[in-house]
Amino acid sequence: MADKTDKLWHGRFEAPPSKITEEISESISFDQVLYKVDIRASLAHARMLQSIGVLTAAEFNDIERGLKQVESEIESGKFTYSAALEDIHMHIESRLTEVIGDTGKKLHTGRSRNDQVAVDTHLYTREALQAHRADLTELLKAFLNLAKQNLKTVWVGYTHLQIAQPVLLGHYLMAYFWQFARDLELLDFTLQSLRFSPLGSAALGGANYAVDRQMTAKELGFAAPYPNSMDAVANRDYQLNYHFWVTRLYLHISRFCEDIIIYNTTEFGYVTLGDAVTTGSSIMPQKKNPDIAELLRGKAGRVNGNLQALVTNLKGLPMTYNRDLQEDKVYLFDSIQQARQGLKGMLEILQNIRFNESRVLENLSRGFALATDVADYLVRERQVPFRDAHAVAGSAVKLAEEQGKRLETLTAADWQKIAGYKIDFPEGFFTPLASIARRQGEGSTNPQAVGEQIAAADRFVLEA
Ligand code: ARG
Repeated sequence: MADKTDKLWHGRFEAPPSKITEEISESISFDQVLYKVDIRASLAHARMLQSIGVLTAAEFNDIERGLKQVESEIESGKFTYSAALEDIHMHIESRLTEVIGDTGKKLHTGRSRNDQVAVDTHLYTREALQAHRADLTELLKAFLNLAKQNLKTVWVGYTHLQIAQPVLLGHYLMAYFWQFARDLELLDFTLQSLRFSPLGSAALGGANYAVDRQMTAKELGFAAPYPNSMDAVANRDYQLNYHFWVTRLYLHISRFCEDIIIYNTTEFGYVTLGDAVTTGSSIMPQKKNPDIAELLRGKAGRVNGNLQALVTNLKGLPMTYNRDLQEDKVYLFDSIQQARQGLKGMLEILQNIRFNESRVLENLSRGFALATDVADYLVRERQVPFRDAHAVAGSAVKLAEEQGKRLETLTAADWQKIAGYKIDFPEGFFTPLASIARRQGEGSTNPQAVGEQIAAADRFVLEA
């Protein structure tokens, strides 16, 4: 059992905590990753303490040297961790004191672990978002480039997972582009919610020293200090935003992956996933499974779990810091890892996918995807009211289905029988590209409209 003097807070205690208390209290098993931001924030704090005369220049220099040594010990793997020292903050402070002596004990002047852990997680989340931002921008470019390569490729649009209408493959890919583009907007909003610095709030009401919060905020890249010290240590909204961002990102990832998993089946055959993103079966030699897409689809549940865990943790927590908040990092660090994998995994899928237009063309004609075009043709050329034209086209589908025909192979006599009048379709009417060209209006799959859409997307990416 740990000696009571192991604890940096041992003063008012007579006995050390029990083993299980120590086990429950520790966060070092998961908050080690904060070491770098913790040291950066400690340096900013110490520099500020020197500027207001709480530390001498010599003391600051010792602290700076000591913190750098601790950092390199951690980086080289030489550092030893112990549950008795609870968390990364105490580990660093305690090792600092071993390295530089009693001056190390002055670092925590005017600071609490409450503002310390808050500033650390702000910095850590901000860095994660900056890395995600670069990955997400890559993903947007990949969607855009694939779309540009497929401005003449025919694809099929579904509703209810039933064949609906032909679209350009580029149009389909751009639908995902815009979903992920909105994730970039939400990412920037999430970054905005991290603009205040909690440092200098101390335990909850502020420090008993003339701390210069503007100075530390500036050094650490924040716009300003939090306007309220109690809010600063109690707030986890930026983490809620982060988790919602990851969850919504994953809703988009998982919907794309679901499409790909379906399209990659033998039955559909619309896409072929390359070896780089598929895996084999240990028993069935013929298998090439879309595991990466399936795992990303599964992770959507995991990150939503982390969001719900934090929401549930925060509900009803009294002002200000409560130890429950230590748990936040379990969810945060996991979701950061998942977001990274999701974005990089998506990029890998896009780089290893082949689209098989011939399978799409086959299904389009089997699925009577041009029935709407027939109805609209009757409206335009024969002045038939749309509801009546819809009924004629519907009867044509019924007859074709009964006779094992397709709309394009119905004879003039068939149409005469169905409509009660003669219908001549112009040459090429039933080709999917002709149908796509008949679509009108901004945002439609009409090739010209898709071109305008792509130009808008180019501008979005350029400004991102
Ligand atoms: N490891 C703790 C956390 O992550 C640090 C804060 C401890 N503060 C306290 N008042 N016990 O939340």
